[in-house]
Amino acid sequence: MSKSIAGFSKLSKSEKIDWIVETHFSNTEDATNVLKQYWNTDEKLQKLHDEFIENTITNYYLPLGVAPNFLINNKLYTIPMAIEESSVVAAASKAAKFWLDRGGFKTTVLSTTKIGQVHFMYQGDYNKLKTFFNSVKPKLLTDAKPITKNMELRGGGILDIELRNKTTDIKGYYQLHVSFETLDAMGANFINSCLEQFAKTLKNEALAFSDFSEQEKNIDIVMSILSNYVPNCLVRAEVSCKVEELTEKNDVSGDVFANKFVQAIQIAEVEPYRAVTHNKGIMNGIDAVILATGNDFRAIEAGVHAYASRKGNYSSLSHAKVENGIFTFWLEIPLALGTVGGLTGLHPLVKFASELLGKPSAKELMQIVAVAGLAQNFAALKSLTTTGIQQGHMKMHLMNILNQFDANDEEKTILTEYFKTHTVTHSAVVEAINELRE
Ligand code: MEV
Repeated sequence: MSKSIAGFSKLSKSEKIDWIVETHFSNTEDATNVLKQYWNTDEKLQKLHDEFIENTITNYYLPLGVAPNFLINNKLYTIPMAIEESSVVAAASKAAKFWLDRGGFKTTVLSTTKIGQVHFMYQGDYNKLKTFFNSVKPKLLTDAKPITKNMELRGGGILDIELRNKTTDIKGYYQLHVSFETLDAMGANFINSCLEQFAKTLKNEALAFSDFSEQEKNIDIVMSILSNYVPNCLVRAEVSCKVEELTEKNDVSGDVFANKFVQAIQIAEVEPYRAVTHNKGIMNGIDAVILATGNDFRAIEAGVHAYASRKGNYSSLSHAKVENGIFTFWLEIPLALGTVGGLTGLHPLVKFASELLGKPSAKELMQIVAVAGLAQNFAALKSLTTTGIQQGHMKMHLMNILNQFDANDEEKTILTEYFKTHTVTHSAVVEAINELRE
């Protein structure tokens, strides 16, 4: 059973590890070694990672792979992807190559507005609150100037502050609903700092507003925080080609392929059980690039799934059609990303990923990420509607099973060759290993 401890964060790293292994593990030496084998020998680099979070005991590795051949708006990219799922990078690479031969991906950033809110309670006359808000609005902006001035010099800043009446949902509940342009920064710290300043000004100015009664003067701030729902920070990615160009060697006809593909999308548009898995496939591509480029995948996930439900039903993020013999497949997705600030200037692999992509702006990164999602979705639907997903998936999973059984290099070579012409299932691989070892 786990034990509680006071002052854990104050212990040194090795004291923390000693406490953990002594209280949770039977073989303390093995447990310590597991942690230590992931420490970096470069002490400066290790210290950098230690200081990203509290209570760091080791590093947690994920593979960083790349998917080359992504043609986006006529520019070629090699996309970095950090992910553990065996088939994702392979599928992205395959989809990139498929569309490279058919004109590549076309993308557009539709909007880049981000949102933050001050949530507050006011018990009184709404008309008086409106008058107060209109009179205090210039001061809200002036008081936030020390925070906004650098962002404004670069062309960003606060776009608007609205007063929203939410009293039909909760008695006395109002918001300052604020829109921001944060350029290449994801902007969380900038937005939250502005909001906290607005809250202070709002509260103080209300106390001095002569039209308010004593009760009305007492605006009660509940919280000030950005929103990860960014339906106006939107990017579109698209591929299209003639239906007959969809045919590959020994493959089904373009017509049959396109029809099945469109049907698969229609199912994800109307059936939430399918839509969740369909969108999960899109997020396989998106999260992998988000992680590799040091962005916040939790924020992206939350915002994307809210967007997928914006019409009241959870639905597909991607769409497809055939019109006049042209197959078109696209998605529109909200992505609040940063290419400056946060981890981007700190983590050596994030800097590497940025350089690999040609040091993109946040807008360019939005387009690359959306394409990674669309490509992943294309690869998944292509497999699902033709061969089935397991063929490719299990081929990529083969190495994981071989590693589970500690296969040596020679065994791996023999069995990889064997499974080029045999169906990979867990039991088939186990059987083949056993036979080989006999
Ligand atoms: C697996 O990680 C993702 C898929 O299930 C996506 C899909 O079904 O579209 C293959």
